[in-house]
Amino acid sequence: MEENGKYLVFALCKGRLAFKTLELLEKIGIHCEEIKDKDSRKLVFVNEELKVKFFLAKGPDVPTYVEHGAADIGVVGSDIIMEENRRVYEVLDLGFGKCRMCVCGPESARELLQHRERIRVATKYPTIAKDYFFNVKNQTVDMIKLNGSVELGPIVGLSDVIVDIVETGGTLRENGLDVLEEICPLSARVIVNQVSMKMQNERIEQIINALRESIE
Ligand code: PRP
Repeated sequence: MEENGKYLVFALCKGRLAFKTLELLEKIGIHCEEIKDKDSRKLVFVNEELKVKFFLAKGPDVPTYVEHGAADIGVVGSDIIMEENRRVYEVLDLGFGKCRMCVCGPESARELLQHRERIRVATKYPTIAKDYFFNVKNQTVDMIKLNGSVELGPIVGLSDVIVDIVETGGTLRENGLDVLEEICPLSARVIVNQVSMKMQNERIEQIINALRESIE
């Protein structure tokens, strides 16, 4: 924690989003060669010259690290921000990682949604799904939490529909499912720790402004 005054710490989501984020950061002069080594098992990467550190975490953990100040800045999908509901500042939409949060299922489930029947909903996103069905649609549903391959839900008879991310629509198509309702659009966002925003305001604002300019 003491080093946080000296180093600016970034938490990135493991995977594709991290690579796109690093590309963007490079454009504004923040780079880290170490992190590009795919064979490395290191978890924390440092650029001593710029006094920045990066670490890669599981997506849903990124807002947790940022809320607790273990990272000053995080880059994560807006799906995770909504689901985790952490006390962080969301400061910038990076405009990549675009996809949609949708209710999906077989065509036959469309009627169940229209008539607000009590249905079973499988999802990795129970908070988003609950908010949508209970507060937006006023529909009582049974929520079933899954951890991945959610499309299996309606196929194997676990649920009537799913609430999940749709990017290309390929997974749905290959499994005979359709988008039945759209909940909201999603994209990668920059989040900032609330204390860091005050204590390192100048440095963080400078980075946010440079990122904003480079994506405009
Ligand atoms: C996500 C999501 C869908 C799929 C959508 O899954 O949960 O399954 O991608 O993408 P598409 O519309 O381009 O097909 P992910 O690959 O993250 O794995 P998971 O199912 O294990 O969560």
